[in-house]
Order: sequence, then C-alpha cells, then structure tokens
Amino acid sequence: MKIGIFDSGLGGLIILKDIIKKLPQYDYIYLGDSARVPYGNRSQETIYEFTRQAVDFLFKQDCQLIIIACNTASAEALRKIQQEWLPVNYPDRRVLGVIRPVVEKAVEVAKKKIGVIGTKGTVSSQAYIQEIAKLDPKMEVMQQACPLLVPLIEEAWQKNDVTKKVLRTYLKPLKLAEIDTLILGCTHYPILYKEIQGIMGARTKVLHSGEIVADALADYLNRHSEIENKLDKNSNNIYYVTDLSPHYEKLGEGWFGKRIRFEKVSL
Ligand code: DGL
Repeated sequence: MKIGIFDSGLGGLIILKDIIKKLPQYDYIYLGDSARVPYGNRSQETIYEFTRQAVDFLFKQDCQLIIIACNTASAEALRKIQQEWLPVNYPDRRVLGVIRPVVEKAVEVAKKKIGVIGTKGTVSSQAYIQEIAKLDPKMEVMQQACPLLVPLIEEAWQKNDVTKKVLRTYLKPLKLAEIDTLILGCTHYPILYKEIQGIMGARTKVLHSGEIVADALADYLNRHSEIENKLDKNSNNIYYVTDLSPHYEKLGEGWFGKRIRFEKVSL
C-alpha cells in the first residue's frame, strides 16, 4: 500500500520533496486539486467537502496513510474527517495533518511568543491557536492572514519588489510584537523562506514545515509498525492533479526540483 500526500494545489510538492528526501523507500501518491485551488478563501463546508473527496480518491488508489499537506484543509477539515468520516468508511486507514507536528516543534523551540502566518481559512479556524494551547497554555500566539502571498508565489514573483512590500506589511505587526518563533502555516510560504527570515531578523526562528512534517512521519512510522508493515517499498511515485496548464506544470516542477509526469484525474 502507498502513502498519499494531498494538497489543494501543487504547493504540497514542497512538502513531498522533504518527505521523499527523508523516506525515499516508500511509494507515494501525490494529489493536487489544481482545478479548485486556492482553498484559502473558501468556506469551511466547501473545504471539508473537497478534502473528503480527495481523501476518498487516495484511499481508492490503495493508500494506507494520507498526509494532508495543505494547512487550510488540515485546519478546516481534518478533525471532522478523522472523527466522523474515517471510522465509518475506512476504519483501518489513517489521515494525518501538518498542524500538529509543526506546533509540537514550535512549542519546543519557542521562548514565549509564536507567530503564525497562513491563509484566511487557516487563521480564522484558530486551529494553530487551539493546538498550541493544548501543549502550552501559557504560550502567546499572534496570527496574521496573508491572502496575497499564494497568488504572488504562483506568479513566481518571489523576488519582485511588490512581494517584498506585501511581505513587510504582513510581517510588521508580528515583528513589532517581537515574536521569537514564526510558523509558516501554508504550503507555499517556504518559497519565501529567505525573504521572510530576512525581514524578521535573526532573533526570530522561522520554522521549515517540510522538514518537520518529514521527521514527524518518520517518527509516526517507527511507532506504528502495524501501518509501516503494510507499506510498499519500491520508491514508485505517482503525481495526480485535477487540472494541468503549462504554467502550473512548470511551477510545480520548479518547486519540486525535477521533471514530473502529471496525470489528470477527476474527483
Ligand atoms: N495549500 C494551501 C495551504 O497550505 C494554500 C493554497 C490554497 O489556498 O489552497 O493553506
């Protein structure tokens, strides 16, 4: 059986790249819902429905375990899928998100104030605030929605002055509040890692979600041999998308760092 990696679009390839680097032996199926990206400004009901369809598709492709690499879907749909949908439909399979492992790391390294940036959906769900409070109720948390960043990154404008200006505007309140740790709560933001670290300065630790999620998956598989034993180990990877334009294909390959043979599917 395989490991499924789901994202609303192709940003999850940035996470998958780190996962394959850490755990190259497994067979992965990537699914990017590129026909319906972005999820970030959509309602909770729609994000849940899209995510449920994607998870169902990946289970039908023989995935034993699915990582929801999309922060918005992890924030708005994961809990309901884990608690209500999975036990009825696929009780022996597992779905994990990205918020919990990143929060565990943040709480470990932060001194007293964590900043979180993400889409409007992720921020309004309060999922990061709730997870941080579960692990450290005294930790201060400050969130900032950054809805313009995904379109700018998808235009490959990361080096553009407009993007730097937008970033400085979004990060200013977090900088003024003197956060000591920053969570990049969106698949796309690692593309701007250097620019974000540059603006925040050396006193703020900017967390790299891809590496954290890869480490957490390795740890999970170590602790769950009943899941690990079922996984194929042929290093065969498949990349599904729900839409493909030449622009997205080039963008995805740039983020992933190599050529990809995408297959178009319907959910
Ligand atoms: N993948 C989304 C996330 O991580 C960003 C793109 C979108 O809004 O769908 O939140």
